[in-house]
Amino acid sequence: MSEEARERRNGAYAREFARALADPVQFWREQADALPWLTPPATVLDQDPSGAWRWFRGGRTNSCWLALDRHVEAGQGDRVALIYDSPVTGQVQRFTYAETLVRVARIAGALAGLGVGRGDRVIIYMPMVPEAAFAMLACARIGAVHSVVFGGFAAPELATRIDDATPKVILSASCGIEFETVIPYQPLLEGAVDLAVHKPTHVVQLVRPQAPVTLDRAGWLDWASWEASAEPVPYVPVDATDPLYILYTSGTTGKPKGVVRDNGGHAVALEYSLRAIYDVGPGDVFWAASDVGWVVGHSYIVYGPLIRGCTSVLYEGKPVRTPDAGAYWRVIAEHRVKTFFVAPTAFRAIRKEDPDCRLKASYDLGSLRYQFVAGERLDPPTYFWLKEHLGIPVIDHWWQTETGWPICASPMGLEPLETRPGSPTLPVPGYDLRVLDESGHEVAAGAVGAVVLRGPLPPGALPTVWGDHQRFEDAYWSQFPGHYFTGDEGYRDADGYVYIMGRMDDVINVAGHRLSSGQMEEALAAHPAVAECAVVGIDDADKGQVPLGLVVLKDGVNTERAELERELVQRVRQDVGPFASFRRAVVVKRLPKTRSGKILRQVLRKMIDGKAYVVPSTIDDPAIMNEVKASLVQQGVMSA
Ligand code: COA
Ligand code: AMP
Repeated sequence: MSEEARERRNGAYAREFARALADPVQFWREQADALPWLTPPATVLDQDPSGAWRWFRGGRTNSCWLALDRHVEAGQGDRVALIYDSPVTGQVQRFTYAETLVRVARIAGALAGLGVGRGDRVIIYMPMVPEAAFAMLACARIGAVHSVVFGGFAAPELATRIDDATPKVILSASCGIEFETVIPYQPLLEGAVDLAVHKPTHVVQLVRPQAPVTLDRAGWLDWASWEASAEPVPYVPVDATDPLYILYTSGTTGKPKGVVRDNGGHAVALEYSLRAIYDVGPGDVFWAASDVGWVVGHSYIVYGPLIRGCTSVLYEGKPVRTPDAGAYWRVIAEHRVKTFFVAPTAFRAIRKEDPDCRLKASYDLGSLRYQFVAGERLDPPTYFWLKEHLGIPVIDHWWQTETGWPICASPMGLEPLETRPGSPTLPVPGYDLRVLDESGHEVAAGAVGAVVLRGPLPPGALPTVWGDHQRFEDAYWSQFPGHYFTGDEGYRDADGYVYIMGRMDDVINVAGHRLSSGQMEEALAAHPAVAECAVVGIDDADKGQVPLGLVVLKDGVNTERAELERELVQRVRQDVGPFASFRRAVVVKRLPKTRSGKILRQVLRKMIDGKAYVVPSTIDDPAIMNEVKASLVQQGVMSA
């Protein structure tokens, strides 16, 4: 054990961690007391009839009130809530808390005017514009449940979410902008609405000057006049346990899971995390360079920073080419960012274009105290590059859509922990993390196993899957009774430091974006030449992982390989979205499967990445592995 690790045993982190574990009710009652409530909760933690844990039952709150009204009521209306920085449109706009509240209350009124009320769903399919954040808060204001769908998803993915969430209204825009390319949303929206069985009553579109549109379908409205003609409405008190939002995330199958977030636990967890982990307080500038379509956008662009009274940066740009690899340094300097959070892939892109980080020298980064990274594994070369060039703490932290806030992190507001490359350090107070073997026993230090969290999960984590509680039980709680299965495998070292190795299921992490094999396989399988297929995520120096398709052709099909690959790539772009970065599909004779017919994707992935793998004894025909390997070597996918 290192000297620092020994000292840490009695430090502020260790004490808080032990307290949260020993008496979670008392610990989270204290955290809940850090926020105002419309009605304080009657109970801190209990279980509903399905056995799911619920936080703060009896409490009444409103997430929009917590994020906006109460700061304005406390005289902080002139503080900047949101900075919209958009290099792709050449704009920077600042919205104070008071100005944000005016916009949000009016949009909430406009939604109410369309018949949206407490518990109704609204899908938000928007680029990184301030109206996306306003729309989320407006839903929260009237107790409606929003479901933001990442703008990079293609029409069929949007349609799946429309059918699952059954929204009354869709809020959208006429386009997104990727570097210099305008991506029109109108065909995507029309395609999705036509494909979906459920039909929303209205689609409201923010018409951007880059993509004028004609809104000639019945019920399709122009945002500007819709908002302008509405009256502002007050916030509606909701139960702490009421759903605030649904966020779909990829699992093992092609059907995404609707992660549900409640109001009360979410607010308490975010407030705690911003203080204890990110070390920001009212007035500090916090920037998470993600997208409102992902959990990072929900927790750390919109709700978290605003609930905490910070200034949040909403950036419609890229790490590079908007206009150059100094884009992030420009934003940090211009807006005096204190804490910055982004996925490692963005820094890999910057490092590629500016290996010596020369562009940083043109900016004053004196405000920047912490560099947080998450969303995918922080590879040691990127970690060391950041350490060398930033000269501030670089904090790798690990979490997922389901938890909504970090599971492992060095809590900078509590006690900075010694960092170790490749590790997001130790579990955050509130999480009881274990590494288990297949039979549910804890493994020894250094041994790899399934990373699980002993129930109950802390506030903020998902209480259920939208419309399918059984799926929640099956997907997360059935493998290791009493424990939530994160889907990741990893190990702990002798000091308890956690190392996340990757997913054990069929989730693929492309540039910090979460996709499933099943989603892409459905697109490939629909091609008339394909008999069966598998998609696996293989290592990629830039994006962390990229998908690779392996297809078996139907008997008698004799198609030109390059043309087939082009068609398959096009299918994934059209059915899932271009951000999946599906660029390679190769033909194999057979796929390795268990005797019960399950494709051995994990074994394939490890083999292609040149990692150690064990062929399970349940494999149908062991010869297939060598056959596939020879075929992939021959097609240049892997070396012999
Ligand atoms: N809407 C529409 N299309 C999108 C999109 C969106 N929101 N996001 C990505 N795409 C498209 C891109 O236009 C591109 O299309 P193309 O194949 O026609 O060129 C494709 O998806 C792949 O995009 P991307 O993965 O962004 O790769 P890139 O080479 O265009 O850019 C980076 C590389 C590094 C700049 C980019 O990957 C990046 O910004 N990464 C950081 C991502 C991030 O923050 N992830 C964390 C989420 S928590
Ligand atoms: P998402 O739900 O999209 O946030 O993706 C969550 C998944 O991303 C986790 O289950 C991990 O597999 C991976 N992930 C997130 N953060 C990290 C990290 N810091 N290190 C390693 N993997 C990570």
